[in-house]
Amino acid sequence: MFAVEMQGITKRFGSLVANNGVNFDLIQGEIHALLGENGAGKTTLMRILYGLYQADSGEIRVKGKPVSIQSPKDAIRAGIGMVTQHFTLVPTLSVAENITLGADGALIDPVRLEKEVAALSERYGIPVNPSALVRTLSVGEQQRVEILKALARNARVLILDEPTAVLVPQEVEVLFAALRRLVNEGLSVIFISHKLYEVMEVCDRITVLRDGKLTGTVNKTDIDQPGLARMMVGRESFGVTRQGEREASTPLLVVERLCAKGKKGLAALSDVSFNVEAGEVLGVAGVSGNGQTELSQVLCGMLKPTSGAVKVAGQDVTHAGPAELSEVGVGRIAEDRHASLVGELSVAENLVLDQIERFTRGGSLDQAAIRKNAEQMIADYQIKATPETHTRTLSGGNMQKVLLARNLSRNPRVVIAAEPTRGLDVGATDYVRSRLLEQRARGAAVLLLSEDLDEVMALADRIAVIYDGRIMGILNNKDATVEKLGLMMLGTPLERLAEAMEEKRDAI
Ligand SMILES: Nc1ncnc2c1ncn2[C@@H]1O[C@H](COP(=O)(O)OP(=O)(O)O)[C@@H](O)[C@H]1O
Ligand SMILES: [Mg+2]
Repeated sequence: MFAVEMQGITKRFGSLVANNGVNFDLIQGEIHALLGENGAGKTTLMRILYGLYQADSGEIRVKGKPVSIQSPKDAIRAGIGMVTQHFTLVPTLSVAENITLGADGALIDPVRLEKEVAALSERYGIPVNPSALVRTLSVGEQQRVEILKALARNARVLILDEPTAVLVPQEVEVLFAALRRLVNEGLSVIFISHKLYEVMEVCDRITVLRDGKLTGTVNKTDIDQPGLARMMVGRESFGVTRQGEREASTPLLVVERLCAKGKKGLAALSDVSFNVEAGEVLGVAGVSGNGQTELSQVLCGMLKPTSGAVKVAGQDVTHAGPAELSEVGVGRIAEDRHASLVGELSVAENLVLDQIERFTRGGSLDQAAIRKNAEQMIADYQIKATPETHTRTLSGGNMQKVLLARNLSRNPRVVIAAEPTRGLDVGATDYVRSRLLEQRARGAAVLLLSEDLDEVMALADRIAVIYDGRIMGILNNKDATVEKLGLMMLGTPLERLAEAMEEKRDAI
């Protein structure tokens, strides 16, 4: 029996067709993945099912009956719950209060509330502490509260939008176990993802969207990862991986006991030390918000450290600004690519932005040279633009290519790449990764800060894990497993790793 059927769903935003005649059905008791690249239309389709958007055309049936879903209220009444990418919990209330908030006949007695929530948590195997305040919870815990909140409202269909994006590997395991239990209880789950291996691990059937259109729906047992990749992006293999082991060489970037304060004046980096050698990629892994932003800001000359030192090829650049860093050979792919470019200026102008002197003749800009430089870069870096194109009109992938061109074309000794593929499609992601590996092959020292653990594991020779502004340890890629890195991302220092892994085994 179908828990949900969506037929011929079309949704436009202005001239953009986000969903184009999409058919989707959910069998009761299955975990069904909605897979596709960024921008494929997954969230839009599920926002329609949850009543956050109205389709321009198409039909929705719940358990065979046509329904009109105008708002989340209608969806909840039809037994549909959604955990969105941004949580909607009240931080100052307890877990129990949040879960029962707005539920029919919510009880006021906190003890009874907590008992009810504990029972719910027990029944579905989704661990939470009912009396804890939501603001004290980790992201993974908050997500579990969101799931229980949907279940408390009697959801029989649960939609999860990229739920693993914010989780460390151990939390992903807990989530998957919970989802399996939910479907054993007769619920149905829609799991949005763009990660092939996750989908293969947890789902029964998979629906793939591409450019707003349905590519197809398949049983997991009838397909493999290359097949899914083909459905998703139109070609079989993607993924760029570092090749070959390397020999030890000279450290080009040396960071010593670096401390820095973040936005609120709180310690954001404490005693951070590492080296990156010539021809090496050092990856920095960690859950978002553990000091990565501040580290990249310090190394890009945008944040002054409070103590410690940064050296490039032996030269002290601890307090250097962006211009001086370029001078000593630091190429910077900063986290916020919009802030690194001036949207109102042309691609040609942005490409010379931090080396204007080179393009000035007798006190005025050498327009012919700027244009020639741009033509060369556009060809070399496959940028889809003309020299005159306003940078703000470029896609994320093409903006990133402008930044790569500006920074890498000068053969930097050190490359700082902060979240270089965030929000990019698969093609652009591969492109950026292979350009970074080119720098490694050329002998540059590459520091890769990335919240995407797969990316770090695919590219880095060594992996440092940052947690709460501290380096938990640095592992050689061949010794780094998802389990080890996950524990370190949760705050286990390398010295205590063996012990923590033992404890975990004992617990199971
Ligand atoms: N509220 C909106 N207004 C305008 N465009 C939107 C809106 N929501 C989504 N889009 C566009 O619709 C397309 C599909 O987006 P989305 O459904 O979020 O994709 P996915 O979840 O697969 O990454 C994208 O091009 C996106 O920019
Ligand atoms: Mg989405």
